[in-house]
Amino acid sequence: MFLRVAVALQTLALFAAPITAGLLLSSPGGRLLHSISAYGVFTVAVLHLATAILVWRPGGGPPRPILYAAVFLGLTLAQIALGIAQVKTLHVPLGVLMFGMSVLQLGRVWTGHPAGAAAPAGR
Ligand code: HEM
Repeated sequence: MFLRVAVALQTLALFAAPITAGLLLSSPGGRLLHSISAYGVFTVAVLHLATAILVWRPGGGPPRPILYAAVFLGLTLAQIALGIAQVKTLHVPLGVLMFGMSVLQLGRVWTGHPAGAAAPAGR
């Protein structure tokens, strides 16, 4: 449940990023909005990692979501660095990749097949 909310918030924050990127390219206040949305993505990525750890211990859930959350936080830090360095050729595709990854993970946690859970016998 908590992991679902964390991944849903992360996906929502990543959906907002290209919208504010469009504003950054087209309006004077857009840069500030994109920065705010970038640090929103960072905040939810940290919350996602904290949630994945708590779901594992003391929650008793699988540890695998911690790996996904940690990789995601690493990609978020790389994305922020690339944005500040204005490396658009990597920054834009990485943003698209992160959104895709988040949607896939949302599907996984939402359908009750969290990454790392044992597959039922015979599958
Ligand atoms: C598909 C999604 C995204 C697109 C299309 C996009 C696009 C852009 C563009 C065009 C710039 C301006 C670069 C320049 O000034 O040359 C930028 C800057 C930036 N982006 Fe993104 N971005 C996306 C997602 C993200 C995400 C997810 C984050 C953070 C997690 C992020 C963080 C930043 C930062 C920190 C800057 C620098 C802002 C500044 O200089 O004040 N972006 N982005």
